[in-house]
Amino acid sequence: MTALKLTANRSGHLDETLDATQKKVVGVQAPEEVRRYLGAFPAYAPTPLVELPDLAASLGVGQIAIKDESPRYGLCSFKALGGAYAVARLVHRFLEDRLGRAVDPAEMLGDECKALASEMTVSCATDGNHGRSVAAGAQMFGCRCVIFLHAGVSAGRERAIAGFGAEIRRTDGNYDQSVAEATETAEREGWTTVSDFSWPGYEEIPGLVMQGYTLMLDEIFAQSEAPFTHIFVQGGVGGLAAVVAGYFLDRMGKDRPKVVVVEPDLANCLQLSAQANERVSMEPGRSTVMAMLECYEPSLVAWGILEKSADYYVAIPDDHAIEAMRLLAKPIGSDRPLEIGESGGSGLGGLMAVMADSKARETLGLGPSARILLLGTEGATDPELYKSLIEGQPFSQPEAHA
Ligand SMILES: Cc1ncc(COP(=O)(O)O)c(C=O)c1O
Repeated sequence: MTALKLTANRSGHLDETLDATQKKVVGVQAPEEVRRYLGAFPAYAPTPLVELPDLAASLGVGQIAIKDESPRYGLCSFKALGGAYAVARLVHRFLEDRLGRAVDPAEMLGDECKALASEMTVSCATDGNHGRSVAAGAQMFGCRCVIFLHAGVSAGRERAIAGFGAEIRRTDGNYDQSVAEATETAEREGWTTVSDFSWPGYEEIPGLVMQGYTLMLDEIFAQSEAPFTHIFVQGGVGGLAAVVAGYFLDRMGKDRPKVVVVEPDLANCLQLSAQANERVSMEPGRSTVMAMLECYEPSLVAWGILEKSADYYVAIPDDHAIEAMRLLAKPIGSDRPLEIGESGGSGLGGLMAVMADSKARETLGLGPSARILLLGTEGATDPELYKSLIEGQPFSQPEAHA
């Protein structure tokens, strides 16, 4: 077994104040901006923050609380907060331009606005959850939606997205290649790309997606009875981790908890970027069971925030993520059982890996006085896969997509 590799942020920007654009995206005021549009989301309700005392005791830490995103808007993941919100903001802007007047967000659900919005097409590439959110938003507000899926996205996830009336286009290659194809097609067709991944020249819309996630942080502060000392947050392109770390930095400065970003060891582009001290992409290898985290290049907007706010990076093998899911589903002692999917439980997989490594544990100062925040970012977003993994079926790893 290879030793756990914990990579410290040595960018020289750690704890620097967020700039004005970053504050708008993830700062303490960001959730207020999101709340202004909640009229367009009548189904909004906070998700639970669940304390897991028996799990904490078994791992040798003081307390663990997990934000359970499985019920979020019936879409089963925190991503419901981002893509659909960005679609709402873009449709809202379009409607105000066309109508030449202010539009109350709740009006967007009415026939007049929906008829106008039908002229718009939104599109994106996705591993699953982001596309589901964009498709749900498009359906709610009446615009056309085209979603690009790479070969590794399961049929179950495709069905869930198509269920919101989105047109599905399958692409060759991996996630990054599907992003490129989605973007080229959207430019050619005059569609609006609503991506959670950002690159030079494409920053505003991914920033809106991330701003949408901040509502979850606002809820956590309202729900938690005691401050956290550590956060283990999973990373794909880094958007979620940047929101979590950036929001805590902006709200608490140097008193904030230590943030550890957890990635699959098969797709650890954030950790590799931290090692290189710049945003780098990596070569795709085998697929990981943590399908939503299978990303090979950090998002630009996210990376700029992570340089200032994420303390450590750690990468875990698939079996840790599966073990974490099982532990959440069939908990120790009298902890509450939680239905958290493969990518959603990987923060716990990272915590378990660190607790099993005395050097890493010591570096992070993890022990009986630690209070840890985990983000259970998805439920059983692919119910068949979830069931088979919980029941002990092995995950078959396909070769890299061509
Ligand atoms: C369930 C889940 N957790 C975590 C992430 C990671 O988010 P990001 O790609 O913004 O790093 C994703 C991304 O799709 C996700 O679906």
